[in-house]
Amino acid sequence: MSKVLVTSALPYINGVPHLGHMVGCLLPSDVYARFMRMMGNEVLYIVGTDEHGTTSEVGALKAGMDVQAYCDMNHERHYRTYKDFELSFDYFGRTSSEQNKEMTYHIFEQLDKNGYIEERAVKQVYSVDDKMFLADRYITGTCPYCGYDKARGDQCENCTKVLEPAELIDARSTISGSKNLEIRESKHLFLNLPKIENKLREWLKTKEAFWPEVAYSIALKWLKEGLQPRCITRDLKWGFPVNKPGYEDKVFYVWFDAPIGYIGITKQWSDEKPEERNWKDWWYDAKDVRHVEFMGKDNVPFHAITFPATLLGTNEPWTQVDYLKGSSYLTFEGGKFSKSEKRGIFAEDAVKEFPADYWRYWLMSNAPEASDSSFTFDLFAGTVNKDLNGVLGNFVSRVLKMTASKFGDEIPSGGEMTVLENELIAVLQKRVDDYFKYMKDMEFRKALNELRAIWVEGNNYISTAEPWNVIKENQDQAAMILRVCINLIRIFAILSAPVMPVTSEKMMEKFGLSTKDMPSLAGFDIKKEIEFLQPGHKFEVGETLFERILPERLEELKQKYGSSK
Ligand code: 2FM
Ligand code: ZN
Repeated sequence: MSKVLVTSALPYINGVPHLGHMVGCLLPSDVYARFMRMMGNEVLYIVGTDEHGTTSEVGALKAGMDVQAYCDMNHERHYRTYKDFELSFDYFGRTSSEQNKEMTYHIFEQLDKNGYIEERAVKQVYSVDDKMFLADRYITGTCPYCGYDKARGDQCENCTKVLEPAELIDARSTISGSKNLEIRESKHLFLNLPKIENKLREWLKTKEAFWPEVAYSIALKWLKEGLQPRCITRDLKWGFPVNKPGYEDKVFYVWFDAPIGYIGITKQWSDEKPEERNWKDWWYDAKDVRHVEFMGKDNVPFHAITFPATLLGTNEPWTQVDYLKGSSYLTFEGGKFSKSEKRGIFAEDAVKEFPADYWRYWLMSNAPEASDSSFTFDLFAGTVNKDLNGVLGNFVSRVLKMTASKFGDEIPSGGEMTVLENELIAVLQKRVDDYFKYMKDMEFRKALNELRAIWVEGNNYISTAEPWNVIKENQDQAAMILRVCINLIRIFAILSAPVMPVTSEKMMEKFGLSTKDMPSLAGFDIKKEIEFLQPGHKFEVGETLFERILPERLEELKQKYGSSK
C-alpha cells in the first residue's frame, strides 16, 4: 500500500465553477483519488477555496458584503456544489484559515532567513477613479508577447506568459474600464527566483521521465526564458498581513499563500482529529508519499516553477509534486463559458438538471487532455442516450427483468460455463487491465473508452448467448448465461465506481450489497469475480438506472443555457 496525496487546484472563491473547472481539475482529481483508494492505497485528497486577493474584495463590494462574510457564504456554496458532484475529498478547506496563515508565515520566515527574499521599490498601478491600487488581474491590456488584447496584468491566458501589469500595452482598469491610471511607487518583497534557479533545475531534471509532456515543457520553457524575481506582497487589506517589520500594512500576494494552502488545508484536516491525523505525515519529511496535482494548464507555471522554488528555498524537506496533470480547456459550444453573458451551464445548475453521474461520465469521456474539447448539449444527450441508457442501463434492466420473469428473484442455479464464457473472461480481463493502466496513467479519455467497451462486451455476450432461445431447450444452460450476466452487472458496478459512484451504488443495491462490499481493484480477477454472486442470491429489478434525454428536453436545455450563439 502506498500513500498518495491528491490535490486539485484550489478554485477562486468568487467565481462560480462551470463545467470547464469541473473537468479541468476537480473531477479528474476525484476520479483518480477514488480509483487509487479502490486499488488499496492510502489516499489523502485535499481541496478547498482560494480566498485572498482583490477578486474577493471586489466581489464583496459588488455584493454589498463584508469580505469575510462574503467568503464564508461562497465557501459554503462551493462546498455544496462539489458535494453535489460527488467529490470525495477528505477535507475541503480554505486558504484564509489560521492554519494556512501559520504555514505561510513559517515558509516566508525560512525563505527570508535563507536569503531568498529581497526588498524592491515597485511602481504600481493606482486607479484614480476606483481609488485603489489595482491588483494585477484587475488590469486588462494587450499582451506585449502575443498581442492578445484581453491579457490580464498577472498572466496572458492566450500564451500563458506570466506578466507584470506595467508590461501591458493600453492598460485599463477591469473594474471600471477607466484608463485614468497612475503609477505610484511603494516598497515590496520579492522572492528571488534566480537565486533558487539551480536548485530548481536539478529538482526538475528528476521529473523529466515522469511528468506529462504538457507540464514539463511549460516548466522548461520558463527556465529557458530565465526566471525573474517575483513580487509576493500587495497593497491590499484582504490577505495575510506580512510578518516582517515595515510591511505590516501589506498582505501576501494571493499566489504566494494559495499553493501553501494545500499544506494549510491538510493541517485543518489534521487539527480536527489530532490524535489520529498528522499533516506532517503527508507534507514534511514524508518520503513515502506520492503527490499528484491536478490543474488547468494556466496554473502549471505556478505549480511547476514558483511553488516548488518556494519550497526548495526553505531548505526544508517539504513534499513536492511528483506528478502534475495539466489539462487543456473545455469550451461551451466552441466558445467561452460566461456567467454574465448567460452562456454555458454552471456546475450548481448542472446537478439540478441531471444526476451528477451523467455529467461525470460525459466530462471524463471528453476530458480536454491533449487538446481543448467542446461541450454541446447534442453531444451530451447523445452520450447519455447511447452509452448510459443504451449500453449500460439497458443491459442491467434487460438481464434482471429476464431473469426475474423466467426464474424468480433469486440467481438461478444450473449449467456449466462453455468456450463462449471463457472467451468472454479473457477479453474482459484484457480490457480491465487496460482500463486500470489508463486510470493509473491518468489518461481518462482512453480509460473511459475501455470502460464503455467493457459494457459493450456484456451486450455482445448476451446477444451471442441468446438465453431467450436457449431456455426453450435447456433451462440450466439459460440459467448459467443469466448468472454470468448478473455477475457482469456487479463487475460493471465495481469498475464504474470511480467515475459514477452513485450509479455504482445503485447497481450494488440491486443485490443487497453496497460500495463497502467491493473488492480491491489490485489483482482484480474476472474469472473469480464472474462467479462471485452464487445461485440463490436474491436480487431486485428496481428502477432503471438512466433516463433518456428526449428531443423536447434537449431544445429546452439549449434555450435555457444559451447554446445558440
Ligand atoms: O486558477 C485558479 O482558480 C487558482 N485559484 C488556482 C490556485 S491553485 C493553488 F495554488 F491554490
Ligand atoms: Zn500573450
